[in-house]
Amino acid sequence: MTTEDTGNQPTSAHVARYTPDRHADYGDARLSSPVFPRNSPPLIAALTPWLGGRTGKVLEIGCGTGQHGAAFELAWPGIAWQASDPYPEHCASAESWRLALKLPSRDTLALDAAADWGPEVTAAGPFTAVFTANVIHIAPPAVLAGILRGAPQVLGPCGLLIFYGPFMENGRHTGEGNARFDAGLRADNPDWGLRDIADLREGAAAEGLEMAAVLAMPANNRVLIFRKP
Ligand SMILES: C[S@@+](CC[C@H](N)C(=O)[O-])C[C@H]1O[C@@H](n2cnc3c(N)ncnc32)[C@H](O)[C@@H]1O
Repeated sequence: MTTEDTGNQPTSAHVARYTPDRHADYGDARLSSPVFPRNSPPLIAALTPWLGGRTGKVLEIGCGTGQHGAAFELAWPGIAWQASDPYPEHCASAESWRLALKLPSRDTLALDAAADWGPEVTAAGPFTAVFTANVIHIAPPAVLAGILRGAPQVLGPCGLLIFYGPFMENGRHTGEGNARFDAGLRADNPDWGLRDIADLREGAAAEGLEMAAVLAMPANNRVLIFRKP
């Protein structure tokens, strides 16, 4: 099963750092990320040229509240969004958001990206894209390695692997805020921290994925897009 303990799943320290608010007045499992309203519109604008006209399924790794997937599926009706997360509260939140927004019912997969992705994930594919936002810097390197290993196995031809978040570029931070964020992450857990785009490019190439784009985003974030041949 994809949730067997790899030692790389969210810990209480992770959940303490990533604490989405619960809307008590919703009366269901929906969680709400305070940064979602700021991140979502520019992400949709940046990814529309890549996903907007496409059909098929997208697998999201580490969906958190599930708000991104729901917003993306509303923005791109040809795409069926398959959320996943190893943390049960996040899976429940993603399902609740879909229900509340009257999106087609689709169970969120309990997936630890550092583990073998397993037959359940393969059966849900093949995927047009694998998407992950704000996951790999608040997780040990094994999670990034698992994504780079797992994505090519579940992507269809010309499928895309898309990362969103803060990254380093050739050993340098892209802004003072990111440098502080990185120091705070590493203080919480020495295995966490911003990853370098050059390392992702190299790791992806080793798994047969070529870099297709690096998109500058607000607040010194980046979208990285890799493509399967
Ligand atoms: C900072 S949150 C980002 C959530 C969401 N993607 C967003 O941008 O709002 C990090 C997410 O990574 C997930 N995560 C942590 N360890 C993971 C692992 N080993 N495999 C997959 N997801 C993981 C957490 O459960 C959490 O949902």
